[in-house]
Amino acid sequence: MNILRIMNVPRSYREPAPVVGRSECCSFDSWKGSQEIAERLKVMAVEQRSIILSEPESGAGKSHLVVAYMIHSFENDVILRAKIKYEHYENDGGHNVVREVADGFTKHKVMPELYHYTRADDLIELLIKSGFDSADNFQKARKYRCLCIDEFGRDLQGYGKDVLDDAPTMNRLIGSRIDDLKQIVIATPLTQKEFLAKYDGSLLRRLEDNGGEWIDLDIKTRYNKKR
Ligand SMILES: Nc1ncnc2c1ncn2[C@@H]1O[C@H](COP(=O)(O)OP(=O)(O)OP(=O)(O)O)[C@@H](O)[C@H]1O
Ligand SMILES: [Mg+2]
Repeated sequence: MNILRIMNVPRSYREPAPVVGRSECCSFDSWKGSQEIAERLKVMAVEQRSIILSEPESGAGKSHLVVAYMIHSFENDVILRAKIKYEHYENDGGHNVVREVADGFTKHKVMPELYHYTRADDLIELLIKSGFDSADNFQKARKYRCLCIDEFGRDLQGYGKDVLDDAPTMNRLIGSRIDDLKQIVIATPLTQKEFLAKYDGSLLRRLEDNGGEWIDLDIKTRYNKKR
């Protein structure tokens, strides 16, 4: 099965998009924009660092880049497992016995299920039901090895946006993931100023303290603009 599907990446980013001239899924290979930003993101992805990618313009390639970033992080991610070897020795009673001793580490691939893409509004629907936090879903979202939240901070549609404020839940989720050193990959149309006005201002500082970065995409026109 396609790993992007396992990661819950939407079909339009998994498949070619002939109209926009993209012949494969969203990846760094199919990125035709600034190579400087692509190279910078690749280096960060290899180190599994967290990012908040910001650009108010729609169609600038935020979703494209966060999907590419997830794939690149995943491909370079390994889990280390302790290796054990058996040693024969004679115990105090003169018997030959065996004991387990540490023998370095082996590298293992990471399961794609541990990487998860979600749009912020889908996540909010899962986490906040009828005004109450859903503890199980919250813990699940907290535990993914890498969580990608796209469309972060867009105005909520259809959830009674006058009464529902996603900030407390998002602050808690993002804050706990930062503290647990779990990767978050966020794409947002909010500027840094807007982000800081709406969400907990300490999130960004804590993200940066742990090697994460706020990145302004800084693209003024839509890629392949047709209108
Ligand atoms: N530089 C680029 N190279 C190749 N494809 C691109 C580039 N920029 C955008 N695209 C393609 O254009 C389409 C729109 O881009 P994308 O969805 O990533 O924009 P966005 O910034 O997330 O927009 P929105 O704010 O509406 O979510 C996608 O299919 C994407 O793959
Ligand atoms: Mg997008």
